[in-house]
Formats: sequence, structure tokens, C-alpha cells
Amino acid sequence: NNIACLFDLDGVLVDTAVYHYQAWKALANSLGFDFTKAQNEQLKGVNRMRSLQLILEWGGVQKTAEEQEALATVKNDNYVGMISKMTAAEVLPGSVELLEALRAAGIKIALGSASKNSGLILERTNLAHLFDAIVDGNHVTTSKPDPEVFIKGAELLDTDPSRCIVFEDAQAGVQAAIAGKMKVVGIGEPENLTGADVVVKDLSAITVEEIKALIN
Ligand code: BG6
Ligand code: MG
Repeated sequence: NNIACLFDLDGVLVDTAVYHYQAWKALANSLGFDFTKAQNEQLKGVNRMRSLQLILEWGGVQKTAEEQEALATVKNDNYVGMISKMTAAEVLPGSVELLEALRAAGIKIALGSASKNSGLILERTNLAHLFDAIVDGNHVTTSKPDPEVFIKGAELLDTDPSRCIVFEDAQAGVQAAIAGKMKVVGIGEPENLTGADVVVKDLSAITVEEIKALIN
């Protein structure tokens, strides 16, 4: 009768969404174009190479596979420079309190992130010890909205998807949770989180009891 919680990382537990945006914007600008905040919403939850391909499409720029690899590396090097300086102060409000309360209630917790940098971020922000399982961009072959990352998390926590609750700030992540037949708590603004069972501004605005009540 156990339930499990699966947390996205960027934009849910830590404020890295702003660094992704800055690094992609710098790359686009270096190629001679820019993209909008609304377009940036579409990059959230989406893996690195797919994000680059969307940005190149918006700029009307064509690059070979080899050039794309090089551009993704430029962006990532810039991004890693930013996150290497992160501290626990950049953990978003309510995150540690909720993770600790879930653990105290005996509820298992997994990370379900598209990022290949999750290890560095969790270490820098001192969150790693709060997770029973980690699934990130190094463990999956598809990008959200495909549910693979959350299905793997549910398997590692030995919990049926119907008894899993996903926490997501991205529309692609909400879609992934729904495709995985899981409940989903949206973090942010409702207009960016269509289909979420409930939307809260951050993790300080939801309790263990409210989370449990989402199942059955
Ligand atoms: C997601 C972010 O968590 O990770 C996306 O929301 C990002 O913006 C993706 O593209 C991949 O991250 P990384 O760190 O592997 O480039
Ligand atoms: Mg996110």
C-alpha cells in the first residue's frame, strides 16, 4: 500500500532553470538570434540535444550533427561553470522540509530529471542524501514528454505507477507523468502546467497529507 514521490530537479528543487536559460540565450545570441520567454518554457524538461534542435529551428539555423555536438558542449560548459558555484542557498523554498517530512512518513523518494548534471547539482546543494533512487539524463534514452524517466523511478522504488506522485515545473514533465499514468503536482503557474492534478507555487505550499490524498 506504499506510495512514492518522484521529483524533477531543475525548477522544482533548485533554481537552475534560470542558468539553463542564460546559457541557451548566450548560445543563441552568439549565432545571431534570440528567443522569447514563452519559447524558453518549451525547453523546460526537454533534454540537451532536443533543446538545441528546437533553438536552432527558432533561429532558422541549420547545423550538422557534428556542429550540434560542439554547440551543445559550448552551452554545457557555460552552464556547468554556473552550477559549479551553487550552494544550498539555491534550494527552492520548502524543498528540504518536504523531502524530510516524506522520509519521516516512510514515503520513498526518487529523482526523475532529464539532466546529465544532476549529480553535480545534488552534491553542490547538499540534497543527494535525501533520495532513495536517482534517475537522470544519464539513465534514459528518451526525453520527457516520454514517461521513461518516471517509469524507471517507479521501478527502482518498487511502486506501481498508479501510486506515484510526480512533482514537475515543465509542461513536458506533466505530460510525461500523465503518460506514465501517475499523479502530478505542478510547480509554478497553472497556464504552463496543463493537466496537473494540482498546481502550487513551490514545495512550501503542499503537505504530506495533501500529497497522500491525491492517491485514491
Ligand atoms: C532539464 C531542464 O531538467 O534538464 C532542461 O529542464 C535541460 O532545460 C535538461 O535541457 C537537460 O539538462 P542537462 O544538464 O543534461 O543539459
Ligand atoms: Mg524542471
